[in-house]
Amino acid sequence: MRSTLVSQFGDPRQVIALVDAERHAPGPGEVEVAVSLAAINPSDLIPVTGAYSARTTLPFVPGFEGFGIVTRIGAGVSSLKAGDRVIPIGASGLWQEYLLRPAEWCFRLPDDIDDRDAATAYVNPLTALQLVEALRTHFGSLERRRIGVTAAGSAIGGMLLKLLAGESADVTGIVRSERSADRLAQAAPVAVVLGDESRVPQLRLDAIIDAVGGPFAGDLILRTLEPGGAFIQYGALSGIPVPQAAIQARPDIRFSFLWLRTWVHSAGRPAIEAAFSKSFAGLRSSLFSSRIAEVYPLSRIDAALRHQADPCRDGKLLLDPRC
Ligand SMILES: NC(=O)c1ccc[n+]([C@@H]2O[C@H](COP(=O)([O-])OP(=O)(O)OC[C@H]3O[C@@H](n4cnc5c(N)ncnc54)[C@H](OP(=O)(O)O)[C@@H]3O)[C@@H](O)[C@H]2O)c1
Repeated sequence: MRSTLVSQFGDPRQVIALVDAERHAPGPGEVEVAVSLAAINPSDLIPVTGAYSARTTLPFVPGFEGFGIVTRIGAGVSSLKAGDRVIPIGASGLWQEYLLRPAEWCFRLPDDIDDRDAATAYVNPLTALQLVEALRTHFGSLERRRIGVTAAGSAIGGMLLKLLAGESADVTGIVRSERSADRLAQAAPVAVVLGDESRVPQLRLDAIIDAVGGPFAGDLILRTLEPGGAFIQYGALSGIPVPQAAIQARPDIRFSFLWLRTWVHSAGRPAIEAAFSKSFAGLRSSLFSSRIAEVYPLSRIDAALRHQADPCRDGKLLLDPRC
């Protein structure tokens, strides 16, 4: 079967290989899923670089998000049957034609969620929901709270702006490009400002949800946050951690890090099912819909990875492992 494989850490464009892999039968408690579409997310590529080498075992098949159709059932599985449309989570491996996964880590997809929405129903919607929940835990009500969202031009940034606006928060999207500023100003009832390392916006904020990190995040912490505020980091698109000096200079701020995988592995199935129900509702109302720039056959993974690295890319890329 068609698959990808990472056998050494490095630049994803150089170390993600297209391979012909053996197809195995599902073991007890497992199902085989024929993957229909998988997403390419920044979080798929970070482990490939070796950034988490202490907790990443080589070789591995990348891809944390996508959906497929159950094709074979292992012994003892009664919750799923061949033909069910599911989202398999809990480990990487979606960038291949057939995936084996414990049935308990597969979540059934409603029929009315279309294929492209199904392929992006997991990572960003569930993370956005958890980020907003973390703010609610800190502040109680978010009404009129001044909340800044960095990298607001990203897929998850757009979701956060809409979710927070729905909580009646006073939301500011911080973007690095005019293109994103124009697009977001039309998409959600929020303020949008330009900001990067060379221009830190003049804002007063109660909280920042950050996916950029680096000196830019450090400047925002020092210059914009009110005492008693919160800073939640969930990404580092700059490739640089948030400076410790900035964190230490603000003992009056609550700092936290949110990682979806940590939540998923501790939440339990009923909480994950409840989060998926909210994701599906958000997809039906377009709140969680991601713009799709292109769908690539898995056999053209090299072209897909080049496009992923293009700073002018305008939306998510999907992989079709069936071709
Ligand atoms: N912690 C978790 O569990 C978790 C879960 C989901 C996502 N994330 C993180 O969320 C971030 C976004 O993910 P995504 O799937 O939404 O990505 P995406 O849709 O591929 O977003 C890419 C966009 O982010 C903006 N961007 C990239 N680098 C930037 C930088 N240095 N400064 C400001 N903006 C930048 C760019 O927008 P413009 O150039 O158009 O402005 C770019 O088009 C990633 O860091 C990812 O790892 C974390």
